[in-house]
Amino acid sequence: MKRITVSSPSNIALIKYWGMRDEQLTQPNNVSLSMTLSQCVSLCTMAPLHRGSNDEILWKTSEGTLVPASNSMRFGIEHHLGQLRQHFDHWQPLRIATSNSFPTGAGIASSAAGFSALAMAFALQCDQSSDGAHISELARLSGSGSAARSAFGGFVQWPGDARQLAGPTQQFAPAHHWPLHDLIAVVDARHKKVSSRQGHRLASSSPFYQTRLDRLPERLATVRRAILNRDFNALADAVECEAVEMHMIAMTSQPPVFYWQPTTLVLLERVRQLRGEGLQVCATMDAGPNVHVLCTAQHRSQVFAALRSLPGVIRWIFDQAGDGPRQLDHHLF
Ligand code: DP6
Repeated sequence: MKRITVSSPSNIALIKYWGMRDEQLTQPNNVSLSMTLSQCVSLCTMAPLHRGSNDEILWKTSEGTLVPASNSMRFGIEHHLGQLRQHFDHWQPLRIATSNSFPTGAGIASSAAGFSALAMAFALQCDQSSDGAHISELARLSGSGSAARSAFGGFVQWPGDARQLAGPTQQFAPAHHWPLHDLIAVVDARHKKVSSRQGHRLASSSPFYQTRLDRLPERLATVRRAILNRDFNALADAVECEAVEMHMIAMTSQPPVFYWQPTTLVLLERVRQLRGEGLQVCATMDAGPNVHVLCTAQHRSQVFAALRSLPGVIRWIFDQAGDGPRQLDHHLF
């Protein structure tokens, strides 16, 4: 039996992908840039079943038991599998088990990690290349653009060439270039009411969307420069403006989408205060209320000491910049 297991990371966007020019092909309206994480990972084990069998799609619980995947997870995996099968013309039924190292349903983008893991496991199952560019293209077939970025480690830009929005993803710098920390404040563990997909569809209805798109190339250049020079203050200002701007587009869409909660704002305010006091820290949020508190290794303990007792945070997840997906030799079944 050819059993393949892959571990693939989640990522946090520093420049957000918000709005699509082609939903079928998952092509974005703007370039995005993210930091791949190291602790928030999805595992995927895949093995062929006899011809004529039905696929088995399983979830490994935190207690270590394999159970049938939930309907929504099954739906997402089956859709992505359909795309991958067509791409490779490989129709063997499969047994697939997945698990997450981080609390599932906690509003931490699990689709990026999950779909990039599925893409790499499938490529290996078909004896195809598992290099980052290839896995990124396969991960994008899931419909999750952020999954395309999880195929690489470190700082990742999708698409790599801003003049070709349909172009491939590129690693901009490896994780060891600047091993930033990400303290993730989970403010709400429920699934968001408005999916990112729906948010992408609504983005262009905001009267400010075109202004955002016009301003993004300069912001991208600022973020890239800040990463290259390891200039935290420059990164912090750009990343916070960017997060607020993306959320402003959501809030001014028709109908409006509000992802923030009161604790989101409390955290944003406190993080700004800490930066004013000289700590290297900033905050960003994806399409949800949870706050990614980015900081340097040097200031991590002080930042956490100042934030740990803030009311409204359900739990903290500790992460940092990390590498891309890899094959493992231990399996989920
Ligand atoms: C706000 O369509 O990639 O996180 O499939 O839900 O992960 P999921 O979302 P996707 O949109 C991501 C939107 C974002 C910004 C980003 O990650 O670039």
